[in-house]
Amino acid sequence: MIPRRWAHTYPGEWRDLAQWNRRDSFGEEPAHEQQLLSRWESAFAKQVGRPHAAAINSGRKAMGLIFEHLGVGQGDEVIVPAYTFKEILPVFDTLGAKAVPADIDPETFNMTPASVEGRISDRTRAILALHIFGVPCDIHGIMNLANRHGIPVVEDCAHSLGSSVSGTSTGCFGSAAFYSFDLIKLINTFGGGMVLMDDAALAARVRSCNQTDPEGFTPVYRKARAARIEQLLFSAGLMYPLLYLLATPALKEGMNRLYRRAQSTLRSAVRYDAPQAQLGLHKLTTLEQRIEMRLRCADVMRSLLHPSIHVQRVPEGCEVCGYAFVVLLPCPAAPVRKQLLLRGIDAAVEGEIMDDCAAALGYDDCPVISDIFPRLLALPMHDRLSEKEAERVARSLNASI
Ligand SMILES: Cc1ncc(COP(=O)(O)O)c(C=O)c1O
Repeated sequence: MIPRRWAHTYPGEWRDLAQWNRRDSFGEEPAHEQQLLSRWESAFAKQVGRPHAAAINSGRKAMGLIFEHLGVGQGDEVIVPAYTFKEILPVFDTLGAKAVPADIDPETFNMTPASVEGRISDRTRAILALHIFGVPCDIHGIMNLANRHGIPVVEDCAHSLGSSVSGTSTGCFGSAAFYSFDLIKLINTFGGGMVLMDDAALAARVRSCNQTDPEGFTPVYRKARAARIEQLLFSAGLMYPLLYLLATPALKEGMNRLYRRAQSTLRSAVRYDAPQAQLGLHKLTTLEQRIEMRLRCADVMRSLLHPSIHVQRVPEGCEVCGYAFVVLLPCPAAPVRKQLLLRGIDAAVEGEIMDDCAAALGYDDCPVISDIFPRLLALPMHDRLSEKEAERVARSLNASI
């Protein structure tokens, strides 16, 4: 069976994680641990090309700290993509702000300068620009619009580590950007996030916030253990009956929970600490090579898919990181997913991919997302996928529509 996702680990990582868990710490001198965290932040800042990077325990927390620093508060509006991860929405509630969705482009699945412009009001305090599935949005267009109105832009780079626009990494355009290191991200540290910015005061605020979170490795280890069990079940062929059962429309929530539970809840807000920094530093060294491999698989699928299947369009001048491979079908995706399962391929549909946040926020004026949401399908894309498997995925999808 070809799984839809596979958390990246380096050889020996499970052993390292178990060892750190037994000690419930990294077992190093505090000064050395602090150094490791600083090294990870500097390496990440260098990778993206911004002066400062500061680590924190999740992408969501990173996002909240940025908006708070920008002064977003009670009664303010923030324009967000109509198609994104709905678990970011409570962050706006906490700030007392209102998230206002901007519809997406049916070719790139990103929000557009025109859809953002239609949402600007005198209460708009910020714009959240996402590069969905690693494909950059029209960040120049959005920045021009935002600058004309004097509104700051925050980049959501949860999917786009390694993507760029005309040679400049995503994350370098807005007032600040944030990344996520959750288990299916290109750099997986079993949770965590990073803020990238030019403003040293924001970096200091993020770091002091991280220091006030409690220490502890157990929640990180629990996440790792869940990922390990998922991989063992796949390897033993035991995931298939479960997935086939959960692919029944009546059990949709069960499938959502299976794949989103670990990501959705921030169970315990522990400090982002040295062991995770160690994982990050390790995985950064293989990032380029892993992206190349993913892009080769994406090319195979793109070249073989039937012309009626629309592959997410990459705008000219953009380089992508191959975070995900999402297509728009000419028909509803849920029955096709079931057909794919019969062929031994696990793919994601509807809220297992991302969410219709316009609907979640109670807006009925985002026609593109409500039209295409049921027809989106995320094909397997991860570091273990081979070109041969990618070919099998594409041929199986052609035969399933
Ligand atoms: C688009 C998007 N934004 C933000 C986040 C939040 O990141 P985290 O889960 O680290 O809080 C995610 C998580 O997957 C995401 O997909």
